[in-house]
Amino acid sequence: MTDLKGKRVLLTGAAGGIGQAVVRRFQSAGATVLGVDIKDSVADHSITGDLMDATFCDALPTHAADVLGGLDILINNAGIITRGDITQATDTDFARTMAINVEAPFRLCRAAIPIMAATGGGAIVNTSSCWGVHPGPNHPVYVMSKAAVASMTQCLGMDHAHQGIRVNAVCPNEVNTPMIRTGFKIRGMDPDKAIAELNASVPLGRIAEPEDIADVILFLASDQSRYMCGALLEVNGGKPVK
Ligand SMILES: NC(=O)c1ccc[n+]([C@@H]2O[C@H](COP(=O)([O-])OP(=O)(O)OC[C@H]3O[C@@H](n4cnc5c(N)ncnc54)[C@H](O)[C@@H]3O)[C@@H](O)[C@H]2O)c1
Repeated sequence: MTDLKGKRVLLTGAAGGIGQAVVRRFQSAGATVLGVDIKDSVADHSITGDLMDATFCDALPTHAADVLGGLDILINNAGIITRGDITQATDTDFARTMAINVEAPFRLCRAAIPIMAATGGGAIVNTSSCWGVHPGPNHPVYVMSKAAVASMTQCLGMDHAHQGIRVNAVCPNEVNTPMIRTGFKIRGMDPDKAIAELNASVPLGRIAEPEDIADVILFLASDQSRYMCGALLEVNGGKPVK
């Protein structure tokens, strides 16, 4: 069992499918979690706020350290998916996706790193996607945003290892969360049926459940991954991006 006793965690997207599983897993491992989301979330401490607000993002790590008595782990998990080819993407789609998926993690990492460095180190886990490493079709804005997160992770993993700060990313393929279920609904499909079809496309026989991803985030945040810096860990059930 992974031991995170006494670790103080700032998690974004805490109300989402993966976020809720992260809260449960980290609490079971003994950590205290401050969850942030635009929706109400359940964690040891919760903040409701919009990650598109730059001032809010800039202040979050210091606020988390004040509330928790320090900051050991940052998990940049919040994200949105923007569908459609480039001719369908509006200026707003582009700005919103980059603000939430890229700029917020940039601001949170930038503010969290000096806090962690001052206390001997820490761990940052970013959420990219398999599509951030291998582009999938008809989602260029989302794919670009997740590629930026992957690239930022590799850069920070190198730049801040000397301060004892490990920065890594989880790169899931499809996960059974509101993100993909609402996508099916919007397209007029029955989410359960659509997921059953997707399950058949995965060599392991099913798409990921949120806990499958939360366990990898737990590993990357814990001492069990103590020698990993800048890694992009694909979690895909054996399914390649096509
Ligand atoms: N579900 C998948 O198939 C999948 C695959 C690869 C990567 N991911 C990534 O995993 C992460 C978690 O996604 P999920 O599947 O749990 O989706 P989700 O939609 O269930 O959760 C995302 C959470 O982020 C929050 N959020 C969105 N915009 C916000 C904002 N402006 N301010 C504050 N909070 C905001 C949402 O309210 C939501 O609770 C995302 O970064 C996503 O891109 C998901």
